[in-house]
Amino acid sequence: MQRFTDKVILVTGAASGIGRAAAERLAIEGGSVFCTDINQLAVDELVKGIGDKGGIATAYAFDISNEEQVNACVQACIDHYGKLDAVVNMAGILSFDSTHELALSKWQRVIDINLTGTFLLCKAVLPHLIATQGSITNAASTAALSGLPSGAVYSATKGGVLAMTRSIAVEYAKRGVRANCVCPGDISTNMTDGIDFPKDFDFDLIGRISSLTGPRSPEVVAGLIAMLASEDGIHITGEDIRVDGGTLS
Ligand SMILES: NC(=O)c1ccc[n+]([C@@H]2O[C@H](COP(=O)([O-])OP(=O)(O)OC[C@H]3O[C@@H](n4cnc5c(N)ncnc54)[C@H](O)[C@@H]3O)[C@@H](O)[C@H]2O)c1
Repeated sequence: MQRFTDKVILVTGAASGIGRAAAERLAIEGGSVFCTDINQLAVDELVKGIGDKGGIATAYAFDISNEEQVNACVQACIDHYGKLDAVVNMAGILSFDSTHELALSKWQRVIDINLTGTFLLCKAVLPHLIATQGSITNAASTAALSGLPSGAVYSATKGGVLAMTRSIAVEYAKRGVRANCVCPGDISTNMTDGIDFPKDFDFDLIGRISSLTGPRSPEVVAGLIAMLASEDGIHITGEDIRVDGGTLS
């Protein structure tokens, strides 16, 4: 399937996990993928791999929590490819903390990256997406939909991303821009392999974040992301779709 021929897609968090799998999938389907991450080395390596397989991709390193860097990133994509058809916003960090011990500085850092960063990126790309009738796919989480033990700040950011994405969807629908969330759960990535649980974490509650069939690789989310970003998703906006192996079913 070549759903993204002549389409330009900006992917954040492309160096690892779901963002990386999405970038590879979009390139396989013919897209020109602007692969971004804070990890320059890993995103360079991804782009080389895509190029070696005949795909089209460009690497760009930036910090999504920094407004100047976000604006420069989006401008670099436009300078390079001339337009933007879709944005896949997967950059994020996970934090498990006992809420009564969660430092304000840590709370702020997670908010800055996961929520404010997603806002900054959406703000910067919207004018370009109006021009192409494009789409945004943001990373929410099952943590946006149900209680995550020791996950107060992470859940707050993902609930915020979900609500913000719905608002963007209704605000820009008549201008031709779609905005959706994916809500992954139990996907095996650098984020979830080796989670640093707080010392008093109650592992009896781990079932709340475990799928019924065991963890899956990020490609299972990449397929949904590609559908949402393609013409196949043309009538889908303001939606949140779980890819969690039945965790919340
Ligand atoms: N893996 C899961 O089970 C799961 C579940 C629910 C939600 N999610 C969400 O999906 C998205 C992707 O998660 P993943 O599991 O692939 O994680 P990951 O850690 O494998 O990838 C996240 C990427 O974001 C990048 N990043 C972090 N801070 C950044 C910053 N300040 N600026 C730019 N890039 C930055 C990292 O370098 C990394 O490459 C995240 O938003 C995550 O919260 C994942």
